[in-house]
Amino acid sequence: MKVLAILYNGFKAAKAEPRLLGTVENELGLRAYLESQGHEYIVTSSKEGPDSDFQKHIADTDILITTPFHPGYLTKELMAKAKNLKVCVTAGVGSDHVDLNAAVDRKIQVLEVSGSNVVSVAEQVMMSILLLVRNFVPAHEQAISGNWQVSDIARNAFDLEGKVVGTLGAGRIGHRVLQRLVPFNTKELLYFDYKGLPKEAEQAVGARRVEDLKEFVSQCDVVTVNAPLHEGTKGLINKDLLQHFKPGAWLVNTARGAICNADDVAAALKSGQLRGYAGDVWNQQPAPADHPWRSMRNPLGGGNGMTPHYSGTTLDAQTRYAEGTKQILQNYFEGKPQDPGNVIVGVGKIESASYGQR
Ligand code: NAI
Repeated sequence: MKVLAILYNGFKAAKAEPRLLGTVENELGLRAYLESQGHEYIVTSSKEGPDSDFQKHIADTDILITTPFHPGYLTKELMAKAKNLKVCVTAGVGSDHVDLNAAVDRKIQVLEVSGSNVVSVAEQVMMSILLLVRNFVPAHEQAISGNWQVSDIARNAFDLEGKVVGTLGAGRIGHRVLQRLVPFNTKELLYFDYKGLPKEAEQAVGARRVEDLKEFVSQCDVVTVNAPLHEGTKGLINKDLLQHFKPGAWLVNTARGAICNADDVAAALKSGQLRGYAGDVWNQQPAPADHPWRSMRNPLGGGNGMTPHYSGTTLDAQTRYAEGTKQILQNYFEGKPQDPGNVIVGVGKIESASYGQR
């Protein structure tokens, strides 16, 4: 079979650090295994436009491996050209870069390594909440630029203790974020999700479910977004919803950039309606140099905690998603059942309950 992997370039770093498995150079550690089984393995980062390796090779690829960090966007049109494609594997979590409805129609399975980087992201969420609430970035900028003016930083720095924090999406990551927030003595922990947490889990973290989205955001000092991108979440956080946020709230989005309207978020930060926005996911990746989220600031010059998409690709996470990808391939080649938690689209059917109520 022909296996095509779209990964990001690691260049010098990947040559020096073999644990950067999710790079073009290190090929998810799969080459020896795949070739020993007689399969052809193509690995590339070239993914945009009709002349890209992605679009050229997809025509006769049997198995496509992608990552959310450098997403190969498998549209309905591209899928129509992919005559041999049977399986798409996401090395990581989040398969929104694949048109899931088209995959259902074409009976292409979509599998991901569920859980592989959920701790990595939950830790990033904690870091992002703290760096916004405590106004870390402008303080750090003073440290490295030679300045020292405490009042300029302290005027917008707060404690997390006593605040209301809510997660939009309370699945694997959202639940882990709630668990990690417990020792911070917040005023309240809230969540919004069409699936309730199991009662014991809800009680253990002491979280309250809010069923109306506007009511949910209006009660939170901090909102963290931990839901997949799908028809029901695309552009969900826009000008209209932002008006219902508490004035001066902080928003953290490590889920998917397109869940937020980029211009509306930048405007809300500029006006002070949002005090801060942090995350690592963008509506276009790599993000263009002039993307508004690179330079946006609140009226006091801070509040931007953006990074490139890396929270789920720590070295620990890469080990887990590379191993998980191999396991999925092995199961497929040997005709063994897949772990049900990894199946987003089965043959002709969306199996995951996380991609919207259907
Ligand atoms: P999960 O499937 O365990 O949980 C997702 C939760 O979101 C589910 O409980 C689902 O019911 C809920 N949800 C779906 N639509 C919703 C809506 N409209 N409103 C409220 N809740 C909704 O997924 P997991 O593992 O927690 O990951 C969540 C997302 O985080 C992934 O789909 C991916 O997009 C993102 N992610 C980002 C990473 C990064 O590196 N920044 C790495 C891993 C995941």
